[in-house]
Amino acid sequence: MRNLLITGGAGFIGSNFLRYMLEQYPHYRFVVYDVLNYRGNLDNLRDLDGHPRYLAFVRGDICDRPAVEKVVREYDVDTIVNFAAETHVDRSIIDADAFIRTDVYGTYVLLEVVKDLRLERLHHVSTDEVYGEVLDGSSVETDKLEARSPYAASKAGAELLCQAYHTTYNVPVTVTRGANNIGPYQYPENVVPLFITNAIDDLPLPVYGDGRQVRPYQYVLDHCQGIDVVLHHGTPGEAYNVGPDQETVNLDMTYLLLDLLGKPRSLIQFVTDRPGHDRRYSLNSDKLKALGWEPAHTFEQALEKTVRWYEANEWWWRKIKSGEYKEWYRRNYEDRAALVRELRADDAG
Ligand code: TYD
Repeated sequence: MRNLLITGGAGFIGSNFLRYMLEQYPHYRFVVYDVLNYRGNLDNLRDLDGHPRYLAFVRGDICDRPAVEKVVREYDVDTIVNFAAETHVDRSIIDADAFIRTDVYGTYVLLEVVKDLRLERLHHVSTDEVYGEVLDGSSVETDKLEARSPYAASKAGAELLCQAYHTTYNVPVTVTRGANNIGPYQYPENVVPLFITNAIDDLPLPVYGDGRQVRPYQYVLDHCQGIDVVLHHGTPGEAYNVGPDQETVNLDMTYLLLDLLGKPRSLIQFVTDRPGHDRRYSLNSDKLKALGWEPAHTFEQALEKTVRWYEANEWWWRKIKSGEYKEWYRRNYEDRAALVRELRADDAG
């Protein structure tokens, strides 16, 4: 491993991964490939501009095979780490088209390139959402994939392609299934940065349903370290869960977040639940721990670091919370009861 292509490297986890890897490995060189959709943002990489081993940023789509091949040849890439994806569940519920295209077809293109150009490795970043909701116990890697949202289904589809390419062509592909991430540079449509930035501005925090849903929130750099461990010590053809044992109820996360900001609980506003909302995710990450991984942050530490970063970096998120973002906010939150009725066709007949 020498020259790594980080697809989706201008997004939240991808940009954190690049920063982490540049520090960890003084001999690796990196190229970022990113289409710069609404979540891809060169501000996420601004502090890395001019770094001698961050060779280039190339704007491109993972669905565009000639463009992917070109960047691979030009920079003598031997390893691809794929973060490129549409990721927001609520958007997938309203319109799944881009999810199927980028997450499924895009992963297929990367697999083809890795196969035909005989690269050393494709590492594919997946999600715990492929297991569907987990009411009892914790998911292990051999569990059935029971995706329930269009987003989760698109990621499960990508994973099945990875498996098939490994089985059929012996493509050296590894997969990680990460739990919910929090940390710097997360687009403020995910719950934690949405609630932090709303609370800073004394705006309501829209809690879906009863707020008793459970998520294993993890600090993004712990996730990045898990991917690093799998890249170096994982077995091709295998998938690895990356998540903490600690699980958090959304409302408890919200209370702690408000306390950290010194804001009142009266900002909480219960709103119509997400259709098909997965009640709980829970990961058993023993397989990865056996390779030497252990998360470095508790949930409380992760949330505090995240809150402080958003407080200190208003320059980053204030410009995002305009334009496209406002339109999204209006669509998803303004009349949520009517939106959800419309989506579920509950009015039909
Ligand atoms: P999210 O950040 O969208 O991640 P995911 O759905 O992929 O787990 O949401 C995390 C949790 O927060 C999830 O249970 C849904 C809930 N949530 C809200 O209560 N209100 C919101 O406005 C959003 C975006 C999410």
